[in-house]
Amino acid sequence: MLREVFEVLDLKNIRIWGGRPLEGTVNIQGSKNAVLPMMAAAVLHKGVTVLHGCPRIADVFCMEKILSHLGAKISWKGNSLYLDCSSLKNTDIPEQYACQMRCSIILLGALLGRFGRGAIAPPGGCVIGERPIDLHLSMLEALGTHIEEHEDLLRAYAPDLHGRDLRFQQQSVGATEHGIITAVLAKGVTYLENCAREPEILWLARFLNGMGASVKGAGTGEILVEGVAALRDSVFTVPPDRIVAGTYLCAAAATRGKICIENPPVSELPSFLGIYGKMGGQYDMVGGKLIADASRAYGPITRLETEVYPGFSTDLQSPVMAVLSLARGKSHIRENIFEDRFRVAEDLVHMGAHIRINGRDAYIDGTERLRGCRVTAQELRGGAALILAGLAAEGETTVENFQLVERGYEHIQEDIRCLGGTVSVEEI
Ligand code: EPZ
Repeated sequence: MLREVFEVLDLKNIRIWGGRPLEGTVNIQGSKNAVLPMMAAAVLHKGVTVLHGCPRIADVFCMEKILSHLGAKISWKGNSLYLDCSSLKNTDIPEQYACQMRCSIILLGALLGRFGRGAIAPPGGCVIGERPIDLHLSMLEALGTHIEEHEDLLRAYAPDLHGRDLRFQQQSVGATEHGIITAVLAKGVTYLENCAREPEILWLARFLNGMGASVKGAGTGEILVEGVAALRDSVFTVPPDRIVAGTYLCAAAATRGKICIENPPVSELPSFLGIYGKMGGQYDMVGGKLIADASRAYGPITRLETEVYPGFSTDLQSPVMAVLSLARGKSHIRENIFEDRFRVAEDLVHMGAHIRINGRDAYIDGTERLRGCRVTAQELRGGAALILAGLAAEGETTVENFQLVERGYEHIQEDIRCLGGTVSVEEI
């Protein structure tokens, strides 16, 4: 079963002195959800892959540990990650690694593509939901993989991986990425239908095509992968993280601030920016920079639903909940993607928010102000939402388990300082 991640991360708290509008300029880190599948895909290549703009975050370090366990030689120069997968020696990923990060399951497809075999400890559920892997397993079996499910290990064999047509029962980001990675070195053509359309999938395809793969249609529901015999060394730059950018716009909205984002992935946030505008947030693009005025971002949202891309991202649901806690009116959020992604509500209520949860629906009655106090992050995006609430609240807020936020935010404390906020991080 998935052990709680913070058992393996150093415990930290972040203290926030809130109550002032954020003002300043920030640069967005490389995308966590784009770089993790790229690191997994590097296993397909018997050579060197370089990733510039790679975020130095806990989930990347976890994937790095797994690749090192497989035999990869890895080094860093600033935010450039050098992966040499020329001589891998392992094809089993034991529990102590796989349990820390669910998305490690997509390494199975890379190991099958390269070696025709692989094994991984089955990732369990996590705090935001059960998070099954049935779509991953049915995809692998559809491509000719034989899977043995043992107690503590999923063992997969595909000595002769062949491309096939397959349709996903439901849209899944990870299963789509997994299907692409598995098909890259398979013999023949793989046609994937009902694929997820998240930008991270398009970035994975661009990355793989830069290595000599042939992936067409990424970003649409249908993806065509023509198997190739081998890949080549490549250098790629990780795109900015759209969820981090959205989180910082939420910080501006929560504090009624005015911020500048230097490298905004604006085209990848269509639904979020629509909601930001409906709340009363404004922004202009000036010379490629996003200049946001969130001084009037206090409008409620009568109904917000999380959807697959290009719908509203579930990863920005908790940060927006923190903003709507301070709106002038009633809001309703429906979480359609994960079954347990409202855990942060309990701590927001502790800070003075008026939120009622009923299954997948959250009803928020905006309040004038939040009060700083001690709260506890239970997962990555909920933890980020508590930091936003702390920036808006009167007085001091301490968010425990800040190490969970560091899984996805490379330097949120420095970024908040760039935006004029006052925070300090303490090791426990
Ligand atoms: C990716 O997770 C992201 N993680 C998540 O971001 C993101 O919330 C999610 O996509 C949705 O956008 C990474 O990219 C590393 P899914 P993933 O498969 O691939 C169900 C963050 O905060 N499902 O699209 O795991 C699943 O339970 C993280 O950065 C199955 O039923 O998401 C969920 O309800 C959190 N069977 C829905 O599909 C499966 O085999 C969507 O999950 C797989 C998924």
